[in-house]
Amino acid sequence: MGFPIQRLRRLRQTEPLRRMVRETRLSPSDLVHPFFVTVGRDRREAIPSMPGQYRLSQDLLAKEAAEVHALGIPAVILFGIPDRKDERGTSAYVPDGVVQQAVRTLKDQVPGLLVMTDVCIDEYTTHGHCGLVENGRILNDETLTCLRAMARTLAEAGADVVAPSDMMDGRVAAIRDELDHAGFPDMPIMAYSAKFASCFYAPFRDAADSRPTFGDRQSYQMDPANLREALREIDLDVEEGADIVMVKPALPCLDVIAAARSRVTLPIAAYQVSGEYSMIKAAAANGWLDEPRAMMESLLAIKRAGADLIVTYFARAAARVLHDSFS
Ligand code: PBG
Repeated sequence: MGFPIQRLRRLRQTEPLRRMVRETRLSPSDLVHPFFVTVGRDRREAIPSMPGQYRLSQDLLAKEAAEVHALGIPAVILFGIPDRKDERGTSAYVPDGVVQQAVRTLKDQVPGLLVMTDVCIDEYTTHGHCGLVENGRILNDETLTCLRAMARTLAEAGADVVAPSDMMDGRVAAIRDELDHAGFPDMPIMAYSAKFASCFYAPFRDAADSRPTFGDRQSYQMDPANLREALREIDLDVEEGADIVMVKPALPCLDVIAAARSRVTLPIAAYQVSGEYSMIKAAAANGWLDEPRAMMESLLAIKRAGADLIVTYFARAAARVLHDSFS
């Protein structure tokens, strides 16, 4: 019973019809806005490789986060740019660290906003790696001690969700244990479970000044060739107590998002990373792509693949488009 009985174009004739049969919808509630927070006051530094994104001091962060929240975006995720780095990333887990302070400010000044925090020491180490280093090797179990302390100090500051992005083995279980013993049994963990060693993080490393000074991240982040291994990472994080699992980057990994969706019942997050953002911005700046349409189509594809939450630097712009299209 094919053509001419079946004509799929029938339901594409008018916008009301298309709207009624649309299978996937984006909402501002799906989005998480990442922010880079730096020390000092009244500081707003442009990030050249991420047009429209800034390193903000916490006073200005509070203003921007309030705007984002007013657009219906429920959550932000914070990355810190500390004023000093050392071998052990100490400023990642001091009680008055740059993100710990920003969390306090946001919880105080933007009530109702969900404050997520990245848990990883790379922005705080002189070598730029996500783990402690000994003789050029990235130590796994020793790094867990730093991650525990970072998660605990962020919880003490009032963070609503902690999101480990380091890719050390066993970090979710370690952080769960630490939080439970420190009186935070209800603090959710959003694990960057399937995080690939991707070239698309390059603009972020400019923004956060976290480029490794030697080697690369391939001994801890995943090989982009591996789907089954990504599912093992997800399974392990679920067993270790993750509440939300993340796939990162997003558009290069739609198959991983879809496979994760059919495998686990947990919410799935996808991170549309810096390079995905910058590609669209650069093409649009050259007149090669229509920026709002490229933004919305990529976000829709990520959602269609199965993501419940999308972390994206486009969160604010996308929420504006969604509001305009409903008014
Ligand atoms: C590590 C971390 C990175 C990103 C999020 N958390 C950088 C990395 O792994 O090198 C990248 C996010 C992006 O590219 O937008 N703390």
